[in-house]
Amino acid sequence: MSAAPISVIVNGTRHRFAGDPSMPLLWYLRDELALTGTKYGCGIAQCGACTVHVNGAPVRACQRRMQTLEGAAVTTIEGLHPDGAHPLQQAWRTIDVPQCGFCQAGQIMQAATLLARTPTPSDAEIDAAMTGHLCRCGTYPRIRAAIKAAAEQSR
Ligand code: FES
Ligand code: FES
Repeated sequence: MSAAPISVIVNGTRHRFAGDPSMPLLWYLRDELALTGTKYGCGIAQCGACTVHVNGAPVRACQRRMQTLEGAAVTTIEGLHPDGAHPLQQAWRTIDVPQCGFCQAGQIMQAATLLARTPTPSDAEIDAAMTGHLCRCGTYPRIRAAIKAAAEQSR
């Protein structure tokens, strides 16, 4: 007898996953749901490019297996705001943060959980929250500026 499908909510829509329960969430999002905004960087929890929210917490989707997600609510960059107008997304555009862009969805998703918990973060709090999110293009100063701008806008 095969295992019961895993019920998971992604960006507000309930899905049933009947595939290999050991599949990483990142594979499911990209390959089965075509939510390709979440990127595959390292595959070993070292870069943060694959960061999504699971029940509101930042999670590295390359490491999170489908079998752990029964009943969970997953949010990807596509679901952060219906119009792409989350304060962070607006600030990212205003400050023109991305260079190649590959790391940026993960950066924004991590920053979104920071602002949800700490609406006006200090530089030290930003650095602590964003550490481990690698950007090979070196956009770190613009990322910090955009987080501050988004925090200001949300006041
Ligand atoms: S791809 Fe998941 S942390 Fe790098
Ligand atoms: S913008 Fe290129 S890796 Fe971050």
